[in-house]
Amino acid sequence: MEQWEKLLAPYEQAVEELKIKLRGIRSQYDGELDHSPIEFVTGRVKPIASILDKAVNKGIPLDQIEAEMQDIAGMRIMCQFVDDISRVVNLLRKRKDFEIVEERDYISNKKRSGYRSYHLVIRYPVQTISGEKNIYTEIQIRTLAMNFWATIEHSLNYKYSGQFPEDIQYRLQRASEAAYLLDEEMSQIKGEIQEAQAFFTRKKEKSQDGSDGEGTIR
Ligand code: GTP
Ligand code: MG
Repeated sequence: MEQWEKLLAPYEQAVEELKIKLRGIRSQYDGELDHSPIEFVTGRVKPIASILDKAVNKGIPLDQIEAEMQDIAGMRIMCQFVDDISRVVNLLRKRKDFEIVEERDYISNKKRSGYRSYHLVIRYPVQTISGEKNIYTEIQIRTLAMNFWATIEHSLNYKYSGQFPEDIQYRLQRASEAAYLLDEEMSQIKGEIQEAQAFFTRKKEKSQDGSDGEGTIR
């Protein structure tokens, strides 16, 4: 157990640091005319039981998991619109604090399950008392609609251990198509939505400094 803690500590640190860094991107857009391509960010370290399950399933020896398992540290970036995803990817490609080692585009090529997301694997340097340690971190970038679908599918997958009854399988396919259409529709009215969001943000900011956002001081 102590050994696990020692092994996972740099992963915990990476996830905490990356949460701050990626959320920082969002806050840097506050007060800019351009809207933030990032809606929110989550991160987690894979639970020990899941690491063991995956090691067994994939035939990864325990002394190889750090080299072979790329998602012990996992980050998720949620976006409002599909084209925000490539904006996020471009921002991440420009960063100097990690190296992208793999990209998987499950948006242009959705998975058979109906899963859509853009995946990056990065090598992230963590500073430890025994020097720098480079660890893999998987970053999943997806819209809110893609996230909704993936979350539901994941729970059902768990329930049915990946063996869906046919009617559920069919529903999930339809739901994936519906999520795709939702993303398409939202993209069509993106301009309208962003104008409204910018308006309400201005209004909130102004009401915090005592005016009502429309030029009148209360
Ligand atoms: P893993 O064994 O999961 O690492 O598969 P892989 O190495 O082929 O990577 P892949 O890019 O396919 O998947 C990595 C991660 O993406 C998974 O751990 C899930 O979080 C997510 N993912 C991939 N496919 C699906 C899917 O069909 N449904 C859901 N809900 N999530 C998925
Ligand atoms: Mg993987």
